[in-house]
Amino acid sequence: MTSSLAAFSLSAFGRVSLDEGDKFTGDCETTNDILGPFYRPKAPLRQSLVYKGLKGNRINIVGQVYTDDCKTKLEDALVEIWHCDTEGEYDNESSEMLHRARWVTNKKGEYSFKTILPGKYLNGKLYRPSHIHFRVSCEGHQELISQIYFAGDPHITEDPWASQKKAEHRILAVQPVDIKGGLEVSFDIFLKKK
Ligand SMILES: [Fe+2]
Repeated sequence: MTSSLAAFSLSAFGRVSLDEGDKFTGDCETTNDILGPFYRPKAPLRQSLVYKGLKGNRINIVGQVYTDDCKTKLEDALVEIWHCDTEGEYDNESSEMLHRARWVTNKKGEYSFKTILPGKYLNGKLYRPSHIHFRVSCEGHQELISQIYFAGDPHITEDPWASQKKAEHRILAVQPVDIKGGLEVSFDIFLKKK
């Protein structure tokens, strides 16, 4: 865990400095992004968004939630995600609230979701890059509304939001982490205190 945290902090945050071990300090706050029109409140509390017949490449999204000292993990932070399916469609109506979930961080600040790599949908004449929306809250902290994108996506450069400088820490690698072809995306989240 130490080595992956160190690697993450170096690659994702140019201004973060490492001290002994896996502790680091600096300007680490996770930047915000637009809520978008497809948010629905009260998504199911679940870690798996996968169901029988679901199309798409499975990915695990994993990470830890920290406060703004960049090193103290936050337990009981509520992490919510939503995204479209491989056809670019959100579930805006069904009671199953497909491709939507909430989960709470454990004692180590950890959260994870099993889902798919989303497809793309048109925003005017341009496709938005593949993305997953996040809404994260924790007592004593400012709510974060954001999105993650995926490295190498050709639609990032023309997207009005993903192409912004502040989004660069949220363009993430899809990593083959095991011997079975399992794919993982790691997204640590740093919340600002109120
Ligand atoms: Fe979206």
